[in-house]
Amino acid sequence: MDIIFHQVGIERGCQSYLIGCKSSCAGIVIDPELSQIERYQALAAQEGLVLHYVLDTHTHADHFSATHEMAARFDLPVIMHRNSSAPFADMRVDDGEIVIVGELRLKIMYTPGHTADSLCVVMDDRIFTGDTLLIGGTGRTDLPSGDPDQLYDSLFNGVLKLDPATLVYPGHIYINRTHSTIEEELAKNKRLQKRERSEFVEHMRALDMQMPQHLTESLRVNMSGGRSIAQMLAEAAARVSFMSMDEVSHRIEADQPDITLLDVRERNAYTEGHIPGAVFLPRGQLELRVNEILSDPTRRIVVYCDFGKISTLATATLQDLGFGRAVALDGGLKTWKEQGYAVEKGPPGET
Ligand SMILES: [Fe+2]
Repeated sequence: MDIIFHQVGIERGCQSYLIGCKSSCAGIVIDPELSQIERYQALAAQEGLVLHYVLDTHTHADHFSATHEMAARFDLPVIMHRNSSAPFADMRVDDGEIVIVGELRLKIMYTPGHTADSLCVVMDDRIFTGDTLLIGGTGRTDLPSGDPDQLYDSLFNGVLKLDPATLVYPGHIYINRTHSTIEEELAKNKRLQKRERSEFVEHMRALDMQMPQHLTESLRVNMSGGRSIAQMLAEAAARVSFMSMDEVSHRIEADQPDITLLDVRERNAYTEGHIPGAVFLPRGQLELRVNEILSDPTRRIVVYCDFGKISTLATATLQDLGFGRAVALDGGLKTWKEQGYAVEKGPPGET
């Protein structure tokens, strides 16, 4: 069978897979990651594929899934196991069911253990194991809904009983490989050498692993379909423009500056040092006091904060409020100071 296959690996070893049927041009993405949406879109376009589904092998706790966002952007159904708590999962599948993508048949294998909603996808000569089976490892079982007993069954009475030649494409890869085989994992995977249930369970329970970065944010986003902080910042940054520090510095030196600088930090930070002439309006009071502080909506306003993030969000808010010429400083006051640009001290209202 002719398939189109792209493995997309990103930082922290997360793997996602774009799979397509050559004859029908239908495609699916398994475990898409939020920062790679354009990549999947570009690959699908390059291959002449039309995506039919996005699938999460489980509720991820260590990175941001793109399924919800891709579903909304491209009008695609999200496939997850029926135990998934994500309210946006449209197709809730279970063990033994088959998802049809053109002429491809993707068989669902329910494999709880890493999470209660973990599944693997078997297609032809390969299996997409999510975090159930990794190259030289297994998914951890100490995160919410993990269970080493269940993982034992999913592995030893499920995945590992497949044809030994089956290719293994996991959800994470921490070494310089693209895939492995069931045979190789059975022979070399250290965790799988604990073949007795009690030994395996004990070993999994004894693992003392660090909590993943962004655990609470990943779970919040992946379980609710809400947005990540990085996503909110990227969305704001995509609809505002920026002004360089050099440009701002040059403009405020003029006799009649043609910009109004807006400092959206807290009062103490402003008093300790701000850009000369800056108007003070903390982000938390922006909507409520904007009429009082900024009387001219046609004025060019340059918003800044300490690191350039809050100012980007605040600029997007000002745009929403009708300040069409609001722009954000490219960078924050921290860098402004480090680069030796002018700063003055004093409380608001005395500048
Ligand atoms: Fe995971």
